[in-house]
Amino acid sequence: MKTITTLILLATAAQAADLIDHVRSHPDGKAAFTVDTTAWSDADATRHLPIGVFDSGIGGLTVLEALLTMDAFDNNTLQPGADGVPDFAQERFIYFGDQANMPYGNYSAVQRTDYLKELILKDAIFLLGRRAWPAEGDTPHYDKPPVKAIVIACNTATAYGLEDVRKAVAAWGLPVIVVGVVEAGARGVLESNSDGGIGILATVGTCASKVYPRTISTTLGRAGHSVPLIVQQGSTTLAGAIEGDTAFPESVSSYALKEARALTAAYSAAKPRQPLQTIVLGCTHFPLAQDEIDTAFAALRKEDAYHDLIAEHRTFVNPAQSTARELFQELARAKLRLKPGESCVMERGLFYLSVPHVEEVGIQLSGDGSLDKDYKYSRSPGHFDFEDTKNIPLTPALMPPASARLVKERLPAVWKGLKK
Ligand code: DGL
Repeated sequence: MKTITTLILLATAAQAADLIDHVRSHPDGKAAFTVDTTAWSDADATRHLPIGVFDSGIGGLTVLEALLTMDAFDNNTLQPGADGVPDFAQERFIYFGDQANMPYGNYSAVQRTDYLKELILKDAIFLLGRRAWPAEGDTPHYDKPPVKAIVIACNTATAYGLEDVRKAVAAWGLPVIVVGVVEAGARGVLESNSDGGIGILATVGTCASKVYPRTISTTLGRAGHSVPLIVQQGSTTLAGAIEGDTAFPESVSSYALKEARALTAAYSAAKPRQPLQTIVLGCTHFPLAQDEIDTAFAALRKEDAYHDLIAEHRTFVNPAQSTARELFQELARAKLRLKPGESCVMERGLFYLSVPHVEEVGIQLSGDGSLDKDYKYSRSPGHFDFEDTKNIPLTPALMPPASARLVKERLPAVWKGLKK
């Protein structure tokens, strides 16, 4: 068993190496999945670049909302403490949602982690590069600004790709900061200071990686805290339903109740001594459904079997806030924050979304025009001249009405930027 696992790890490391070499051998950034490596010529040029944020879909917009609105630092002294000015007010962001290839959380269950890891590295390459597709037409443009930092605003992508993205950026010699959401989530648990058990709600892939129990245990342990009971529940449906994907026909509330019930049942089976208190929203889509999830736990608490297992008031941990703080501190440490009076090369934020590249020979689509599910989950890595998806500007009109409504209601700063 150990040998098989080692072989799989070596194989996926080799796939990342292939893509790293592909980028190295196309330094002008004109080919698909490549980067113009001259974009970070000096610290001054780098400082003026925007910050990239990516997720498998719209869920990472919850992290972008935190980045756009956080005021946890004094912008002049860089010390903790609000100063009435958003911490990233001068900076600009490029958001990318790889919606055509999502759910990311379901690749591990079909043993396609190798392809998922390649998708994650391609997401980073897109943000680093200048190449993007127009909404109409079949020729890529080369006017997208590269980025000075990458926020992996996806728990599944952080679990499977953070190390690869960091390794790749180092291999290409780029002065680019890479931040993920999982360590930030674990810090959020520590800072929540709550008693009781911890429940992780995440994708099946994130749960399979065990990244949260491991990171939370280490973080609490290092801070001298005892580690309470931690249970996980991997959802195959909730992120898709939040996206408004028609493959998930039930309401968000209905899926939220199923996941809350399954998490509580797992908690009960682990024979806890305290009630379940802290719920980690370990998928960036889930903060969009926090109300529905909390309502589900409140409903379960009314059932005799679950009453004593669930705390009366739950603490929700959304890793977005700690992620934003980590990015601020990393940029400050690297002296990559814009100085007073300086401005980004981009006047306003940009948003991109992947869609099927229907002209590509061999692509297989389902009835509603999305990638066919069997096709999507059977692809193998290493084909860098084949683009079955393309990244185009994201506008509210491209979002299913249900997810557009969620963003409008719950992420007002993002919505304002999206509508421009
Ligand atoms: N937003 C992703 C996360 O945080 C999950 C959604 C998906 O499965 O693609 O894990």
